[in-house]
Parts: sequence; structure tokens; C-alpha cells
Amino acid sequence: MLFQVRFYYFLLVIVTFFSCKNVNQDKKITIGFSQCVSNDLWRQEMNKSMQIQADLFENVHLEIVDANSNSELQSKQIQQFIDKKVDVIIVSPWQSTPVTPVIQKAIDNGIPVLVVDRKTDKQTYTAYLGADNYQVGINAANFIASKTNKPTKIIEIRGLEGSSPAYERSIGFKDVIKATPNLEIVKIIDSDWEASSIKESFRKALNEIKDVDFVFAHNDRLAYGAWEVAQDLGLEKQLKIIGVDGLPGPNGGLDLVKKGVLIATILYPTGGDEALRLAVDLVAKKTHPINNILESTVVDFRNAAILESQFIRINQKINDINNLQTNINQLQKTYNSQNNLVKILLVFLVLIIALAVYSIYSILVIKNKNRLLRINNEKIIIQRNKIQQIAKEIREVNEARTNFFTGLSHEFKTPLTLIMSTAETLYEENINRKLNLGDHIPNIYKNSNRLLRLINQLLDFRKIEDKKFNINVVPTNINEFSKQIFNDFSSEAVRKNINYIFNSNCTETEVYIDRSLLDKVYFNLLSNALKFTPRKGEIKLDINCEGDSVVIKVSDSGIGIPSTDLDKVFKPFFQGSNNYQYSSGIGLNLSKQFIELHGGTIEIDINNGTVFTITLLKGKEHFPKEVISEIDTFPIKKVQIDYLELQTVNQNYIEEITTEKYSILVVEDNIDLNNFLIDRLSRRYKVYTSYGPDAIDLALEHVPDLVLSDVSLPGKSGFEICEILKKDLRTSHIPTIILTALGDQDSYIKGLDSGADMFISKPFSIKVLEHSIETLLYNRERLRYFYSNKLNNVEANNKFGEIEQVFIVEIKKNIDKNLDNSNFSVEDLAEKMNISRVQLYRKVKAILGISISEYIQDFRLEKSKELLETSKLSISEIAYSTGFSSPNYFSTSFKNKFGKTPKEFRK
Ligand code: FRU
Repeated sequence: MLFQVRFYYFLLVIVTFFSCKNVNQDKKITIGFSQCVSNDLWRQEMNKSMQIQADLFENVHLEIVDANSNSELQSKQIQQFIDKKVDVIIVSPWQSTPVTPVIQKAIDNGIPVLVVDRKTDKQTYTAYLGADNYQVGINAANFIASKTNKPTKIIEIRGLEGSSPAYERSIGFKDVIKATPNLEIVKIIDSDWEASSIKESFRKALNEIKDVDFVFAHNDRLAYGAWEVAQDLGLEKQLKIIGVDGLPGPNGGLDLVKKGVLIATILYPTGGDEALRLAVDLVAKKTHPINNILESTVVDFRNAAILESQFIRINQKINDINNLQTNINQLQKTYNSQNNLVKILLVFLVLIIALAVYSIYSILVIKNKNRLLRINNEKIIIQRNKIQQIAKEIREVNEARTNFFTGLSHEFKTPLTLIMSTAETLYEENINRKLNLGDHIPNIYKNSNRLLRLINQLLDFRKIEDKKFNINVVPTNINEFSKQIFNDFSSEAVRKNINYIFNSNCTETEVYIDRSLLDKVYFNLLSNALKFTPRKGEIKLDINCEGDSVVIKVSDSGIGIPSTDLDKVFKPFFQGSNNYQYSSGIGLNLSKQFIELHGGTIEIDINNGTVFTITLLKGKEHFPKEVISEIDTFPIKKVQIDYLELQTVNQNYIEEITTEKYSILVVEDNIDLNNFLIDRLSRRYKVYTSYGPDAIDLALEHVPDLVLSDVSLPGKSGFEICEILKKDLRTSHIPTIILTALGDQDSYIKGLDSGADMFISKPFSIKVLEHSIETLLYNRERLRYFYSNKLNNVEANNKFGEIEQVFIVEIKKNIDKNLDNSNFSVEDLAEKMNISRVQLYRKVKAILGISISEYIQDFRLEKSKELLETSKLSISEIAYSTGFSSPNYFSTSFKNKFGKTPKEFRK
């Protein structure tokens, strides 16, 4: 910064330096010259010499103005010079008196005035320069006196009256004439300095006065005019004429003298160059005489030629000087431009040097800053690493806390399941045994359920916060779904004497929703409405299915929400300012999140209470494909026990087709839950139980009809056990239910991947579990029935797993190969199939519902039936070829199965 300031200061000095020099050089002196008239040679000569002299000065500007023989105009022009504030004024007055005041004014204004040739009144000027006109008169008279001794007649032709030369010349002339007795001025003629003004009067005078000897004309032009008149009158030889001025050049005074037109002329110098120099001195305030008198002399035929040649030479010199001056000016210009160029270059050089210095300085500064930056960077990196470390630690602590919190919440679920299931059992007992336990059991159930909801809300909230929430939407009859939930609250509404209204214009409208989430939203809104609506109030659930969306309105006539709270109700942990009951404050927040997961909106309004409006889109385009399930087989769906209606399984049918008890392997490490399950399930099933590690061995040993396994187990997880069982030919057919507290989508998918048939999340209702077991067994039985009746036509289809299909095809192949071998036994087949005889037995029994020996027998009989129909083989040939040891045994067996003997059948 300091350097920059210094640099600019340096530049300023340089510029000022050059500018000062220029100012001095350029300081012009303006000289205003008021010339009284310019149409005669003498005046032109004066102007010219003055201009040449001015040109010799580099800084002099000469401005010549012509007054055109007019004193008034001349005064004005001088005034203009004053106004312009010229440095000095030169005046050659036309007449003395008229211009005197303005000249005085100029002097008063501090402008020096140089009067030339003609004077002002009372010596009003700073300086005067000109020849001595009185002496001019004297010279003229003396010349005449020198030429004659006899009486001589003289005519004097005077200059302009009122102009000082005319006056002074006349006085000088008269003074000599008076003193010379033989000389007499016989006539005085006045003029305006030009010949035209005297020709008439002079002719008249010559005609009147005889024998005029001399004429003294105040300038050569008047003298030449007089000669012309004399020549006209034939008197030119007799008349001797003297003029004034003595200018060189054709018809100039010198030329006229040489030609004998004039006898003499009095040299009257213009003094133009001297006047210019004196004017410059006046500006410079140099000391000078006030009256500067120029030399004048008489020129006659003796010196006229010399003088003229001198004049010519002088003029040549002046021309040379002029040329020189022009050259010098040219050189000066070149010099000036080159000088300027050098200055510019110098400035640039200085600039470049300065910039170079500045660059070096900048580089040093930048280097230094870079260094500081690097140090800072390093510090920042260290700090960042520290922060990252702290953040990591905080994250880990948070994670640990969250995990602890989540784990604990999950842990709550198992005891709650037990409490709730026990309550359910007790409730049934209560009814069955007609014990009078009052509301105690429903209270236990209701409060456990409430606790469970809170835990679920907390877990949902955590999942939403962690952005781990997945939804699974299924097409749902919105009318039925909503009505069902609505009805669950009707008893509470009745209890509070509330007008509880359900309105819907939707009949068959199907909406893609995640039922468990929408159920939670409904639960939240309806339980809030019931909580805040006083007795005899009103709660309405309106559903409008017209248009592209479904609009669900839950309105109540409750205490409402202050309008100032409206924008906050969906924020987490919101407590209405008019709500003094304790609540977690996350219900509405979760509801909003759940609805938004559906791409819908939820809004609140107040209208004699509170109105919640949910808008859900119809169709499924707004959902990503992976969250859509077309069929409602999503077992993670948790059914509210409050409104659970178990579908009645065709129990009679199951009992019809099997007299044996189904066996279930329960794998659960929680002793209480394990005991509880054994207690409940052993009423209808044969129950094997495992705490985990021996689950696979038990499954292989007993090949149960169903495996019910927890996920979190010591050793292998429930998923792993399931996967192993499903991959093993011996157990792959066994339906498996996974029981877990991990109610999230990932666990569900993991469960499905492992091959589990059903996935039930804790806490579960024992009724739901029993119902699920029955459904699975029932489905399996139906399949078994189907296969056992189509023994020979079991082809690949979707009902069985791939392993089972391959298994059956393999059995068929082996039996077919050994069809004619009556000794082909179950043991042989088990060996071929690479499993034990018992496992083969159980597997076939499980898949087909019949024993393996029955299956082989059936297979042989079906084949023989086919041969009876299609071949011409004898009955005994058919009997042997299908593996019967004797035709009689074949006949009996055939009749047992088909009701006819082979013979009858063939007929
Ligand atoms: C020129 C002139 C001269 C004369 C002078 C007197 O204008 O007439 O011929 O000598 O003026 O002022």
C-alpha cells in the first residue's frame, strides 16, 4: 500500500515537471496592434516588418487590426484589445484626439501602450516610437534653402489635419522657411494623406499662382500626385517636388527620386521591427525611454540609388532570415515532436521500471501471504480433523444411544406381547369358565396396547428421522378400510355420547396405501378427536372420492387449536397451548410424514373445532415401482387387535383329511415366550421346541409340518436357519414363519430372501399367529391333496418350490426305471435319492400326503392301467412289467384302487 502511494506520488512529480516546462515554453505574449490604415505601401511595410519581427519570437502572438482611416472604429478596436486582456497594445492613431481616452483606459487597466508614427494628445502612452516629424519638416525646408538663393515660391501639401506628423512636419518646415528670407510658402493645401484628396486643389493653386518653384508634400504619394498634376499642366520641369517616406520599390520615394520625378524625399522609417521589440520589452517591464526617435534623412539623386540597393539587400537578408526562420521553425517542430516522444518514452521507461519494482514487491508480498495462508491452512486442517474426530465421537455416542434406545424399544415388545397374549388367553378363559374378572383383563390389554403404540410411534419417529422409512402400498378399498377403523372407535364415542358420523361417496374406490401407516394416521386423528371433543359433541369422518384424488376429512366439535398454533401443529413435540393433557407431541408429525410418504397432503383448519383434511392421489403412478404390491400378501401389516376379525379357516376340512396332529417346531430363545407358545400351540399341534442352536438338527430329525422361528437367536439367526432348511431337500417343503421384533422393510426382505413363507412382527396377537399357522397348513394341505390325486402328472408348476418339483420328477424317474423289478424297495429308492428311508418317507408324506410305498404302489397301478388301455400285452405280462410279484396280487391291488379287476377293466 505504502509503495503504491509512493509510486503515484512519483508519477505526479514527473507529470508536473513536464507540465511546468511546457507552461513556461507556451507562455505567449499577445500583442494587439491597431493600425490606422493599411492600404498604402508605407503601412504595409510597417505591418510586414512588425510581423517578421514577431515571428522571430517563439512566444509572441501579433494580432493586427485595421481601423480603415476611421478614428471611431480604431477606438473600438483598442477597447476590444483591452477586453481581451492582451499583454501590450501598439497603436498608430489615425488622429490624435479621438483615440486618446481609450489609450488612457488601457494604461489604467495595466496594459502598456506603445504609440507609433502618429502621437496622441498630451503624450498619453507608455512609450512612443517614430521619426521626429518636426525634424522632417526642418530637413525638407533646409533642403530647399540649400538649392536656391533667389526668392522662391513654395506650396506645402500637408497630411491629415489632426494627425501629429502633419502638424509637426508643418511646424518644422515653417520654422525654417520663416527664418529664410528668400523662401515663401505661397500656398498650403490640406490632404487626407492620399493624392486623390489634393489633385483638384493643387491644380487650382498652380493655375492661380505663377512661378511656383518648390512643392513640399508630406508624403511621397502626395508628392507623386502633385507631379502628375504638374505634368498635366506642363510644369513638371519647372516644379521641384520634395516628398516624405523614401520607400524602396516601383513608384516608391527612392524610385521617384531616381527617376527625377521628385527632387528629394525625406526618409521616414516605419519602425515596425523596432516597435515590436520595444513592445516585448514593455511586457517584460524592461527599462526604456518614453520617446524612441528613429533616424530620418534627406534622400536626393546622389544617394537614392545606394539607399535603394541597400534596401533591396536588406530585404533579401530579411527574406533569408525568414527562410531561416521557417527552417528553424520546422526544425523546432521536429525537435518538439521528438522531444515529446523522448519524454513519453521516458515516462514509459519510468513506468516500466516502477511496474517491475512493483511486481517484485508484489511477488514478495504474495509469497509472504501464501506462506501465511499455508500456515493457516495447516491450522485449519488440524482443527478440521479435530472437529471431525469430535463429530465422529459424538456420532458414535449418538449412534450408541440411538441403538440403545431402539434396542430397548424392541426389547419392550416381547414382554408386551406376552402381557397382551396372556391377557387375550385370560380373557378367553374368563369367558369360557365364566369367571367374573370385570374390566381388569381388558384394562391390562388396552394399556399394554397403548404402551405398544407409544413404542411404535417412537420407533417410527426414529426411522423417519433417519430417513429409513419404507412404505409398501397395496390397492385398498378405502371405504371398507376407513369404515373398519372408524368402527373401532365407535364404542368410545357411544360412551361419551358423541354424535359419531361416517360419510362416504366411495364404494369400490381402490386407493394405493400402506395400510399400517394410514391406520396409524387414522388412529391418531380419531383418538385426538375423541380426546378433545366434549360429551355430546360431534365427530365426523367424510370421504370424498370424486375426481383424481381422495379427500378425507376428520372434523370434530372439540376445543380446537388456537389460530396462532396452526402453523406449528405438525412440528415434532408440538403441544397445543390450550392442551393441558400430556402427550408425546409426535403423533401429528408422524401422520404428516406418513401422508407425505404417500405423496399426499394433510392440512389443519379450525371450524367450530378442528378439521384435518387429508388428500391422497388415486392411481399408483406417484409411487416408485418397488414400493407397490398388487396383492395384499404383505404380512408385515399389523392388524389392530381392537378390530381384528379372524377369518374362519375351514377347520372341518383340515380335520377331514388328516387324523394326525400337525407338528410344529418352535425356535425361540425367550423362555417365557417359548413356554407361552408351547402352551398355546400344543393344544392343537404336536410341538417340538428349540432355543436355537439345535433347531436345524431337530428339523432334520422330525421333519415337522411347520417351523416357527424367532430372528434373534444365540448362534444362527432365524433367517439363516430358514435359509438352510429351505435349501435342504429333506426340509425344503416345510412352511416357515419368522417371528421378529425388527418390524422394518429390510428385515422383511431378508426374511423373504431366506425363503420364509410368512413374516410376523412382534408384538403379535396370538390369534393372528394361530390364524397364520392354520392358513399356511391349510394351503399346504390343499397342495398335497392336489398332488396326491395327480400322482403321475406332477409337472413343474408354481405351487411347489423348485426343489420339490425336481424331487418328485427324480422319484418318478427312478420308479419308472425299476418298474418291472418287483424287489425295488423304499430303501433302494432312498439310496438312489441319496437320503435316508425315514426322511424319504417324511418328505413324500409332507409333499403328497401319502407314504412312499403307497406312492410306488400307485405309480405301478397307474402304469398298468395305461398299458391295459393302450397295449395288447396279457394281464400277467402287464403285472410283471409293472413290478407286481404275481398276477393275483396285481389283480387284487388293481381292484382295490379302481374297483374293477384288470380283466373287467380291459373289457
Ligand atoms: C502613411 C503615411 C505616410 C506618412 C505617415 C505619417 O500612411 O501617410 O506616408 O509619412 O503616414 O503618419
